Amino acid sequence: MHLGNLAVSGAGLLMTEQMAVEPEGRLTYSCAGLWSYDQVRALRPVFEFCRRYGGAKLGIQLGHAGRKGSVSVPWKGQIPLNEKQGAWLTPSPSPIPYPGRPRPTELDSDGLVRLRNCFAKAARNSLDLDADLLELHCAHGYLLHSFLTPLANKRIDRYGGSTQARTRFALEVFDAIREVWPSTRPLGVRVSATDWVDGGWTADNTVEFAAALKVRGCDYICASSGGASPDQRIPVGPGYQVPFAERIRREVGIPTMALGFITDTHQAENILSSGQADLIALGRGMLYNPRWAWHAAQELHEDVFFPFQYQRAHPIDAGRRFPKSVQNLIVQARLHCRKQSWWACLKNDSSDHRKTGTLKTGFQIRRTGSDERYRSLRTRGRRL
Ligand SMILES: Cc1cc2nc3c(=O)[nH]c(=O)nc-3n(C[C@H](O)[C@H](O)[C@H](O)COP(=O)(O)O)c2cc1C
Repeated sequence: MHLGNLAVSGAGLLMTEQMAVEPEGRLTYSCAGLWSYDQVRALRPVFEFCRRYGGAKLGIQLGHAGRKGSVSVPWKGQIPLNEKQGAWLTPSPSPIPYPGRPRPTELDSDGLVRLRNCFAKAARNSLDLDADLLELHCAHGYLLHSFLTPLANKRIDRYGGSTQARTRFALEVFDAIREVWPSTRPLGVRVSATDWVDGGWTADNTVEFAAALKVRGCDYICASSGGASPDQRIPVGPGYQVPFAERIRREVGIPTMALGFITDTHQAENILSSGQADLIALGRGMLYNPRWAWHAAQELHEDVFFPFQYQRAHPIDAGRRFPKSVQNLIVQARLHCRKQSWWACLKNDSSDHRKTGTLKTGFQIRRTGSDERYRSLRTRGRRL
């Protein structure tokens, strides 16, 4: 119901919540995972349903909760689980607990190899599900972010110490995924661009990391922030993380996705048209109003996916008794074009799109008039 609802929302790309790559990679006991073929089988009808009725491309986010895991669900306070509740041991670069969460165990070299393989296997499972896009979660204080940040990584081996050493494990995981994930399908990385804590991971570190990812075939960087420490001081406000997306895009020359308190149509439009980011993502805004993209398109006189069955509800059809079949045909033709250009767009070099005046996006909206441009919206699914 949740993903299906968002698949018809007009968003160009619908992203699942973080899918754990092993049981110990879940944040809570009710988080989704993609470590087994049974999970692929269970998700297949959900994906098929979204494709049959929806217009959004389908992305999967892969991750591991690391030292933040083994807690109750957010609406029960994220309290550490006890044995009776099925608590599990959480892995981490160093045995330093996130305040208020269970003490993690330090990963040894066998553990690192095993986890790399878990990520690669989950990527293969995502391919079996025919996902259009994959995103590696390296943010929000979870396992891969724990390796990046000096707040959680105190290792003295080749995975700890300098920034380069701390990024090593995440880059190895990225390589393992890129090996099994086809180059024809986008693979992005979500980062916490800063920890918002003195002595933590910084925006400079993120630029360095993004450059290393770009060389390895990363298609985009999604710039989030925070999550590694409760001491973070975040200046939350409209579009507060957009400057990170802008800086990474400018300094590394890689497409970026901006998110965080993007709620207003013109704010969203401006981020894309001013070249601050190539894609925008909405989380809470679209959970609260799943029709956000329809309303934004209407306000901007744009055209997005609208289910045929709902056509009489669209303002341009209001008052007509039946949608004309010819209108349906036009919609179909546009959808067809959109799907084709989505690929062309995402796989283009970013320098090309500036020349041609198109942006890499999750979907194309035809602007009325001569100016054809590309826009993207992304929404994040939470529960299956
Ligand atoms: C209910 C809920 C679930 C979320 N789940 C994830 C997740 O699985 N992975 C992730 O990277 N971010 C997750 N987030 C964070 C959002 O993706 C987003 O970064 C954050 O909410 C800020 O964007 P917004 O202001 O548009 O909501 C979640 C947010 C909410 C509210």
